[in-house]
Order: sequence, then structure tokens, then C-alpha cells
Amino acid sequence: MSTYELDYPDHTQSPDHQPGDEPRCNLSANETFHDVLETRLKRRDVLVGGLATAVGALFAGTALTTVARVATAQAASDGLVGFQPVPVSSADTVVVPKGYKVQVLAPWGTPISGAMPAFAASNSGADQAHQMGMHHDGMHFFPIDGSSTDGLLVMNHEYVEPRFLHAARYAGQELKSDQVMVIDGKRADDEVLKEMNGHGISVVRVKRGTDGAWAVASDPHNRRVTGLTPMEISGPVRGTAHLVTKYSPDGTRTRGTLNNCAHGVTPWNTYLAAEENWAGYFRNGDQQDQKPNLPREHARYGVKAGGMSRYGWELAEGRADAYIRFDASSTGASAAEDYRNEPNAFGWVVEIDPFAPNSMPVKRTHLGRFAHEGVVFGPAIAGKPVVAYSGDDARFEYIYKFVSALPYDPATASGALLDEGTLYAARFNADGSGEWLALAPGQNGLTPENGFADLADILVNTRLAADKAGATKMDRPEWGAVDPRTGAVYFTLTNNSRRTEDQVDPANPRAKSQYGHIIRWSEARGDHAATSFQWDIFVLGGDEQAGRGPNGQKLTADNIFACPDGLWFDSEARLWIQTDIGESAQNKGDMAVMGNNQMLCADPGTGEMRRFLTGPVGQEITGITGTPDGRTIFVNVQHPGATTAPKDWAAGKPVSHWPDGGSAIPRSATLVIFREDGGVVGS
Ligand code: FEO
Ligand code: CA
Ligand code: CA
Ligand code: CA
Repeated sequence: MSTYELDYPDHTQSPDHQPGDEPRCNLSANETFHDVLETRLKRRDVLVGGLATAVGALFAGTALTTVARVATAQAASDGLVGFQPVPVSSADTVVVPKGYKVQVLAPWGTPISGAMPAFAASNSGADQAHQMGMHHDGMHFFPIDGSSTDGLLVMNHEYVEPRFLHAARYAGQELKSDQVMVIDGKRADDEVLKEMNGHGISVVRVKRGTDGAWAVASDPHNRRVTGLTPMEISGPVRGTAHLVTKYSPDGTRTRGTLNNCAHGVTPWNTYLAAEENWAGYFRNGDQQDQKPNLPREHARYGVKAGGMSRYGWELAEGRADAYIRFDASSTGASAAEDYRNEPNAFGWVVEIDPFAPNSMPVKRTHLGRFAHEGVVFGPAIAGKPVVAYSGDDARFEYIYKFVSALPYDPATASGALLDEGTLYAARFNADGSGEWLALAPGQNGLTPENGFADLADILVNTRLAADKAGATKMDRPEWGAVDPRTGAVYFTLTNNSRRTEDQVDPANPRAKSQYGHIIRWSEARGDHAATSFQWDIFVLGGDEQAGRGPNGQKLTADNIFACPDGLWFDSEARLWIQTDIGESAQNKGDMAVMGNNQMLCADPGTGEMRRFLTGPVGQEITGITGTPDGRTIFVNVQHPGATTAPKDWAAGKPVSHWPDGGSAIPRSATLVIFREDGGVVGS
């Protein structure tokens, strides 16, 4: 197994994968993580902000700053976090604190629209188009008329696990979690259809009944957006040669959105689905002199050179146009006669209006093209630009922000605000300052002489533009969140097993970072549109030796964690942190003490941080939203049972049966969590 697979056990064709990746290093035989951390701390005065004082005390003689660079709100005397922490767990169940209740809602396969087909292992691809997709991820609750008991729950379905999706046909076969069955070089059409319909977004009305239980309601808003849904493309790349395909000769449309990881919510109350590890869904067999010959807009993102794409949709037996487009080879006489440009229609942020079920989703190209984890907005202020932050989740990629050209006007604001403005990439300087580098024609070396013809070219090649501008290479940026009290922006950096000692920098302070950390910054003058900022590190993941809490304190049994991913501030400024330890690392080696993936809650004001929830076997906790009154939260459990070994699958023994129990196939699902006394969750 490669180190790449250690980081991306479920994304086996993720953007930075290269053929010939080195074999997995033996972690136990190498320098331990704690040794590495101590070395760094002794050698450098890198840790800053809230962490500095306590860490400095641990390592006497190091010249650490004692000034927190990022504003933290005055702590309320009793703090924001009031529940009893739960211990780590390796059980196949969900555990929440004493005094809390948890209900399972809308698991994969729940019927929501059309003829409401009931969930069954034998469901067809057409059935799946009317059911909740697989692998629940980023999510938002849109209240109906401000209600805290009735609203539209909108969520992403990041990817699918073929073993579970096709359980009726795949039972008894020795298959890995991402593996599909290819017979005589062909994929069965209905399997391909079911996989595409298992992806995308669900919009579903949910209501709380008089008995306190939440249920899915049949409703005209209910909708599936899938890997096949027609989409408009807007912004500077619309209508350019980059997007010309057989399906859209004028380069204005495409079909579907894929690998939607986290999400965003616009100030005008629409939903954004981010396209993360889309590159692996494509292959391009173009060669020159018997060597792969991919254009930079494929190669820099990890489109597969030759071989089969992630799920081999291009091998569909009926050769339907919507399926074979995942072969991006130049097979036609021109771009309008093949799908060489289809990968350029992916890697964007997609806007969906959940209140307009017939509206066509729109890909907003000015937010850049990369492995978008999610999008988070700064507060919308009338008369000021709209600002949106987004991370590129691959090792050594960047954090970006978009600043609109036009000011926000609550009366007229729409997605058009995202079509004109400036995209920036972040540089984190060693002294705790930072700069936003404009990715715009003529700025930061982005000129035709340097290979960037115009704005559309810069946006299609966002990663290359950020390389040229000199942005800071980060440890896999995942979700961001903005503190409603202070305006500070927090981003999770989930891990980076490939960072070497020589590549360590103050913002990414650990080599071979297996536990990850959370960085934060305050924009100059508190203005989210500013081009400079001050940053520090909020927490370091780890065990009780390597981990550090918000005040630099060592982590304890109540809050050790690794691989932060999901991140959300509730309206009272509690910071919720969700973890995604990869499947091949869960409950093994250094990660054994962490147990199953979990969710913590922190108060940035006091530095208190406690474990709130542990999930079942093989999953990650991802996706969180709440009702306006703060008394109900929704949390997603993704890919339970994904750690099932091929032989155990063949033997009919998945390692998880959550949530249905018995001998059931595991299913991603939403948790509804509330207090028995009806109080605010977390308080
Ligand atoms: Fe899909 Fe970066 O997690
Ligand atoms: Ca994620
Ligand atoms: Ca994942
Ligand atoms: Ca992740």
C-alpha cells in the first residue's frame, strides 16, 4: 500500500496520486510522531498565538511569542460548553453525552420523490434517482418560514461504495471498498446509472412530529441532483474553448456534479455543493511517443493517464453518451466531437436553489477550479463585497478566497455576485502575517508570457496560477468556519504524511503529519475583503503527548483527536470539529487510541474542548447543521463499514451493520441530536 492510500484510502484516484508511489513506510520503525513534534518545537520558534505560552513553558529556552495574533472573544464566565465528554469508542454505535438523544434520519436509499421506491438491495439505477444518495457529507438545514421543526435538509453525497450499492449482485465476491465489477472489459449499464444517481445532492423536507421524532415528508421541493443533472456554467470560463464538448459545443453546459464533499450557504439562502476529488472519475489515454500526453488542466489535477477511471463509467456496455464522456481522450476530429474537455467542466462550486426545485444548478467558475472541499462565507454586510473562502484538499495545495466586485445588497443579491470579482490564494508568512495573492491577469506573474492567456485560463488552471503566485502549500485544507463573534476564520488541515522535515513551515509545523491541525486568521481591520491577515494555530491533533488544545495545553482522554475535517460554528460560537481518520489507519498503530471517528466541541473563548460524539465502525463523521433555535443539530455518518476486508465481504460479514443492525448492510445516514430537556445543544 502506498502512503497515498494511507491518506486517501477511500479516494484511490485522488488528485495527487502518481503512478509509482513509494511503498508504505513502516510507521512503527520510524521516528515517532511525538519525537518529530518535539524536534520541531525545540528547533524552531514556530508555534504561535494561543498555543505559544503553554508550549513555550514545556520547552524552556525557546523564544516563542506570547501574543495571540488572532482575536478571541471574551470568554463568558461559565463558557459555552456544558456537556459531559464521552470517551473514545470502537463500538458499532453512536454515543452522545448523558442527557442527549439521537435519532437516525434519511439513510441512503430512503425514498424522497417520484414513485417513492422503497429501499431494497435490488433497487435499480432509476430507483436510486428518487432516493437519498449514498455517503452523506456537507449539509444545511434551510428553515421553512424560520421554523425550528420544519425545513429543507440539503446534503451532498460524496461518493459510493459499490459493494453496498450493488449488494444484490456483489455479494460473495472478494472486493475492496472502491472496487467495481468489470466483465469482458464492460460495466453493466444499470450499475453505472445507479452509481451516478447515488452521487450528487438531496433536497428533502423534514419535519418534527408531535412525538418529537423527525421524519422525511413527501414534498414538491424534494429533489435529487445527480451525476447526470444538466447544469449551466457561469462566470469567466463560460462559453470559452476550455468547455467545448460534443454535449455543449458552445461551452455553456455540462451534465452532473460529482464527489461533492462539503458545501456552502450563500447570504442569499442558496446551497453550494463543492466538487472535490472529481479528477479520478476521468481517464485520458492520449499519448505521444508512447508516453502519456495530458494537457496541464488534466495532469495538474490527477486525471488518470490511461487505464480505467475510478468506477470505469466509460466502459458502460451500451456506450451511452452520458457515460462514455468519462474517457477524456481526444478521439474526435475536434473538441466539439469528443469529451477531451469534459474534465474542465468539473472542479467547480455548484449553486443550487433548494426553494426552486425546477431550477438548473449553476457552476460558478470564478471561485476557481481545484479539489474544492467546501465554501464558507464571511458575514454579508450591505454595501461591502461578498467574501467566500475555500480549501483545496490535496497534499501541498492551497487555501483560497473570492471577493466579489459588486457590493452586497440584501434586496437584490444573487449568484451573479459570484461571477465577477477576484480570486486570491493565501500566503502564510513565518512571522504570523499573511497575504492574499490575486490570481488575476497581469498580477503575481500571471501573464501570457508565463502561460496564462487570460482570466478563464487562470481559473481553469487555478492550481498552477497559485503555484506561480507563491501561495503556501498546506497540509490538505478541508472545511473552514467563521467565528460569528470575532470574524476569525478557522480551517482544518487534516494531515499530510508526505511533508518532510525540510518542508516544514510555521503554518504546517509538523513533518509526516498524521494527526493534522487547525489554523485560523483575522483579516486586517476585521475586513474580510482585506489583502492581508494575521494567523496562528488553534489546535494540534494528536494523542495525550502530541496533541495541543486551544491554550497550548496537552490534550487529554476527554479530547484527543486526529484528522480534523468537518468544522462549523453554531450561532452562539461553539466550534464543532469532526474527524476523518482514513479507513486504513482507523483503530490501528498510533491511531488505536483515537477509536472510531468522532466530533468535538470547543469554546475558542475559554479554550475548553470536549468530545461530544463517537460514531460506528469504519465511518467518518462529516456534515453538521442545526435549527435556528439551536435545540436540534443534524450530523452525518458517512461510509460505516468501509473498513470491511474483501474476504469478510465475500463471507457476508461487513464490519458494521449500522444503523439497521442485525445482518443489514451498513448505510450512511443523518443523526438528529437533541437534549432530553429541550435545551440548546452543546450548552
Ligand atoms: Fe472529502 Fe476532503 O474530504
Ligand atoms: Ca471532508
Ligand atoms: Ca473521506
Ligand atoms: Ca477528509
